[in-house]
Amino acid sequence: MRQILTVMGSPRRNGNTHILVSKIIEGAQASGAVVNELFLGDLTIRECDGCHACWKGKECSKDDDMRAIYTVIIQSDVIIFGTPVYWYGPTALMKAFIDRFVYFNCPENRQKIKGLSAVLAVPFEEDDLETARGVIEFFQKSLAYLEVNLLGQIIVPGVGEKGAIRNKSQYLQQAYDLGRKLA
Ligand SMILES: Cc1cc2nc3c(=O)[nH]c(=O)nc-3n(C[C@H](O)[C@H](O)[C@H](O)COP(=O)(O)O)c2cc1C
Repeated sequence: MRQILTVMGSPRRNGNTHILVSKIIEGAQASGAVVNELFLGDLTIRECDGCHACWKGKECSKDDDMRAIYTVIIQSDVIIFGTPVYWYGPTALMKAFIDRFVYFNCPENRQKIKGLSAVLAVPFEEDDLETARGVIEFFQKSLAYLEVNLLGQIIVPGVGEKGAIRNKSQYLQQAYDLGRKLA
């Protein structure tokens, strides 16, 4: 059974990112996947300062929620990263989370995420797809560097108000179908 980890990067519970990622989850569960959900707004994840204790076989020097999350990431087959566009980038919550992937940037720890795949879910208010370019490139480049396979992405323009994505049925269907495929 495939283990899927969803990472909700918007602080707005039941907002557009949450709804979009939940559709992917629905599809994945319908196909038998086991899903773990992380809501970054509920967690304490501090900044990475590059001390590299983790590269010397030690625990991360930041004693926060990320210590336990490393194990969850390692046990996952697919990670779904969900973030709205915030000022043409990901949210601060998501950026801090990805910064902590420095842990996986040494040979010993890199082995632990060998074969890991990822999916991206990004809603935003403006209508122009260019708005999401910074977020997409941030993930494409960071995941490629970490040798994580980006399997797909759902980019949803034109959703500003909380819940506006409910009117975009074609994207929600796309999310559900993607979830089914992931499982
Ligand atoms: C701090 C902040 C910055 C934002 N920056 C942008 C932006 O640069 N471009 C855009 O199209 N929408 C921007 N938005 C709007 C959000 O992307 C949009 O409301 C999105 O649907 C929020 O997703 P959520 O409901 O999951 O929180 C911003 C919203 C906030 C709160």
